Amino acid sequence: MRSPALPRTSLGTVILIFVCVLTKESVEITPVPYRLQVPRVALDGRDPSNPLRREKKQMHCQLGQYLHPRKTHCCMRCHAGTYKAKDCDGPDQATVCLPCSNGTFTAVDNTMSKCFQCKRCRTALQQIVETPCTPKQDTVCGCQKNQYRIDSDSEYFQCRNCSSCADGTITSCSKSKDAICRCKPQFFLSRSNICKPCNSCTGEDCLLCPSPVTTSPTSSGPNPAVLYTVVDHVPPSRWKEFVRRLGLSDYDLERIELEHRRLRDAQYEMLRLWKLQTGHAATLEHISRVLNQMELSGCSDAVQEALLNQTSPQPCSLHNHL
Ligand SMILES: *[C@@H]1O[C@H](CO)[C@@H](O)[C@H](O)[C@H]1NC(C)=O
Ligand SMILES: *[C@@H]1O[C@H](CO)[C@@H](O)[C@H](O)[C@H]1NC(C)=O
Ligand SMILES: *[C@@H]1O[C@H](CO)[C@@H](O)[C@H](O)[C@H]1NC(C)=O
Repeated sequence: MRSPALPRTSLGTVILIFVCVLTKESVEITPVPYRLQVPRVALDGRDPSNPLRREKKQMHCQLGQYLHPRKTHCCMRCHAGTYKAKDCDGPDQATVCLPCSNGTFTAVDNTMSKCFQCKRCRTALQQIVETPCTPKQDTVCGCQKNQYRIDSDSEYFQCRNCSSCADGTITSCSKSKDAICRCKPQFFLSRSNICKPCNSCTGEDCLLCPSPVTTSPTSSGPNPAVLYTVVDHVPPSRWKEFVRRLGLSDYDLERIELEHRRLRDAQYEMLRLWKLQTGHAATLEHISRVLNQMELSGCSDAVQEALLNQTSPQPCSLHNHL
């Protein structure tokens, strides 16, 4: 009956018998010491009543062990810092684990046949070794002090110098973020993280430059008075020359004259336009310079004194800005 030359009709019978034998065997096999814990079968969602499957699942090993390649027994895994040189010969035998050689590592319990190569920090990206490789831990690469990393999730992160915050102070320079600068007074933080002088600001940047000259509504209070003081101290006969030297165009002068019948209103409007056009360069120094060029330095002194008298609450800032 076991001969391979069986007639066809017997083949079905043979298979049936074979299955029966196998089933019987697998039931008998259950008491081996490394048998699988029962709950795992159920958790796997497989049918535990299927004897063929059950025999296979019984080869699961305990935590810290692995199944021998022949699936006959379990062996202890090798600890971090070692690799598996040889499987254990039997359930009571030890796995042969050897230490990782220089420059290699394994970080966890394992069954690796060799250790991993330690990574090299990429000096081209200015990386430095933060922690050297050990048999149990890969090299940790980092950046130098006062540097931060870009693309920090990748092995290819780049180290860059933190901004130096010239004309300001560094409030932080962290591993993953550039320095945050706090600029000195009269400097603003540009988009490139550099403190730039306020008199070079344009557009929205100027909002970062609080000063008496800004066109915000709150600062408009004292300014008309300042402008009127200038109007009052420049001789009317020299007025047009004065505003031309400040930089106003003849077109603007004529337009303002047409729009304001009263001379004083027109004068005020001209200075206001000059202040708008000149922005942060609209300083008392500028006015004094022009008055001196016109040989009206006495007039300049009078303006300055009057301004100082008027604006005693903020003498310093108003000394420089209108
Ligand atoms: C491992 O390498 C380091 C430097 O690369 C060396 O100083 C040390 O002697 C080496 N150790 C062994 C066991 O080869
Ligand atoms: C980064 O800073 C160091 C030291 O402060 C300096 O020597 C180096 O030139 C800087 N690198 C760059 C790209 O600015
Ligand atoms: C400025 O104030 C002082 C006293 O506070 C006064 O003597 C002087 O005349 C004032 N000057 C002007 C130009 O108003």
